[in-house]
Amino acid sequence: MDFILTEIAFDRDNIPWNGNRFLIGNGYFGIRGTLEEYTKENMCAVNMAGIYDRAGDAWRETVNAPNPLYTYVKVNGKKYALPENEPVSHEQTLDFEKGLHSRKTVWQTEDGRITVKCERFASMSRRHLISMRYTFAADFECDAEIITGIDGDVWDINGPHFVKFNSGSEDGVNYVEGITGEKHISVTARDSVKLDFDAECSGDVCEKAVYRRIVFKAEPHKEYCIEKIAEITTSEDDFEPIGDIRDITYQELKAEHTAAWEKIWDISKITIDGDDDAMYALNYSIYHLNCIAPREMKGKSIAARGLSGQVYKGAVFWDTEMFMIDYYIYTEPQIAKTLLQYRIDTLDGARQKAKEYGLKGAYYAWESQDGGYEGCSDYNVTDVFTKRPMRTYFRDKQYHVSAAIVYGLMKYIKGTGDYDILNEGAMEMVIECAEFYRSLLIKKADERYYEIHDVVGPDEYHERVNNNSYTNRMAKFVFDTALELMEKYTSDEYNSLKPMLQDSAENIFIRQPNDSGIIEQFDGYFRLEDVSVDEVRSRLIDPKEYWGGAYGVAADTQVIKQADVVAMLSMFKDDYASEIMEKNLEYYEPRTEHGSSLSACMYSLLSCYTNNPKTAYPMFMKSARADLTKGGKEWAGLVYIGGTHPASAGGAWIAAVKGFAGITEEDGKLICKPNLPEKWNGMRFKLIYKNKLYLIEVQNNSGAVMII
Ligand code: BGC
Repeated sequence: MDFILTEIAFDRDNIPWNGNRFLIGNGYFGIRGTLEEYTKENMCAVNMAGIYDRAGDAWRETVNAPNPLYTYVKVNGKKYALPENEPVSHEQTLDFEKGLHSRKTVWQTEDGRITVKCERFASMSRRHLISMRYTFAADFECDAEIITGIDGDVWDINGPHFVKFNSGSEDGVNYVEGITGEKHISVTARDSVKLDFDAECSGDVCEKAVYRRIVFKAEPHKEYCIEKIAEITTSEDDFEPIGDIRDITYQELKAEHTAAWEKIWDISKITIDGDDDAMYALNYSIYHLNCIAPREMKGKSIAARGLSGQVYKGAVFWDTEMFMIDYYIYTEPQIAKTLLQYRIDTLDGARQKAKEYGLKGAYYAWESQDGGYEGCSDYNVTDVFTKRPMRTYFRDKQYHVSAAIVYGLMKYIKGTGDYDILNEGAMEMVIECAEFYRSLLIKKADERYYEIHDVVGPDEYHERVNNNSYTNRMAKFVFDTALELMEKYTSDEYNSLKPMLQDSAENIFIRQPNDSGIIEQFDGYFRLEDVSVDEVRSRLIDPKEYWGGAYGVAADTQVIKQADVVAMLSMFKDDYASEIMEKNLEYYEPRTEHGSSLSACMYSLLSCYTNNPKTAYPMFMKSARADLTKGGKEWAGLVYIGGTHPASAGGAWIAAVKGFAGITEEDGKLICKPNLPEKWNGMRFKLIYKNKLYLIEVQNNSGAVMII
């Protein structure tokens, strides 16, 4: 089947959404699926991975590079561009097997029709490069002009970040360098252009932009093509560009690029027999995970909205270790290691944050930027009514983030057998996380159990609760893990810690199911108003209103934002009887808004674990289609949160591989215990497990795992 996404006809309302779903990227940058003539008004961005800057008092966020794709046409002196000029026809396409973005637009002019075509890609073989092939044709003779340049006046959510520019032209290469205000980081875009026709070429160097003006007499029905090779570099780079952009041709670069994607798909592709929609959506999710993977890069992780922009400040959340890392562990373990290395490198930032709150050990940032800097503010949502920032407790109280990192590390070690990482800083990280959770424990007089109070669990709508079942269980996991690793992989250096950790692991309060088999999400949750999600939604005065926090419509009800107890059950499935898991699914699902794209995959996974692929299927599709479906949540209060959803993409992969195909490890071996949806006749995919490549073939609910 073709992995092609197409939109036929132009709909200006889809500009932000198309920017996300037509994204191309190579881990170093992401290029939104905007059109070549777009500017910052249309959310055009070349979003740089892990390059952060702060403008004034605004939120710190990733930086968008000067845009080297900026191009439009003029015919007989008149500009034709979207969205201003309504086209006769328009088509935008993403070939996500090859990582190629293209568009074709036809306009009616006073004298006849003109056609603009463009194909472009973010090079997977040379990470600094972007290339485009732009073609113009008219069905009448005309004076044509292609204006192509580098636009430094970029889209920013909390900018502007560039306070100084150097623009110019040297030996056929144009450049715009932007220097950021806070850290004086230099981000430079350069371009080199080749024509296949005679034209009069001139240039304009402006403060924030450089343009080439290509003027020619166009004969009817003849295609005029320009090829551009562009390069982005930053002063933070730890790898050098390959080659001189003047020496490479579009075709050569395209051949390298598609070969690199072919190599990726050779391991990543998942074939599903009998359900093309599911196969398409799942591989589309995998495409996005590949566009944002920090390949061959050091000390970088992945932001919650990938490389689709500055939403969520380009920060790294628990999303990476809980939802995305699994895909990389089993297809390109080196990337998984890079993600963990980022956490090891930012351990000091986590220590500082713990100290700031009077706690010990490592409290990782809720919204982590470079150096582990906490990007989350105390007022992280803007109230729609007062337009004032609202006090939220994500930063202070989402303690579960440190445990997610330890959980991610253990998944990595299990999947790769790479225990060396423990000596490369991971052991220290685990100990520091264990110390952190120990410092959160409180014991009431005469009680045996340790409790954790004043917490925000995964369900962010209920802030400052006590004994969130998920958080307590994750804390126990960290204590157990620290003890196990100390026992097996260290000598005596941590001996003094062992008794304390033992005590913490044994005595932390782990809530058990009640008489009806339900695990209460936190102390007092069952006493909250028990109403439906629709009822809570009907109480909104404004559709953008925030549901959580002190006064949110959901705060005093049992309606939750996302999987919480269900997430815990799917993480610790072996601790619970299937019947308990089922009962909790039945209880929590109707009370879950799925207001976070991280939610559905957890319900899907747990439904697979309870042998219910029928219930799991729609939740899986919701996850896999998160970026293909219009109308996802785009606002939290007045804060824009749209973009791609890599955690949902990773969650879909987990649900497919660990859920439906039932891949699990037993006694150090990869086992397949499938639970396929009714219409799936089979699945076929490859996995890397402990350095060996496996082919998994699932048929009629029997699975074979073969080393290849
Ligand atoms: C979710 C968090 C998630 C964040 C970034 C929020 O809406 O509640 O769990 O980490 O989005 O994806």
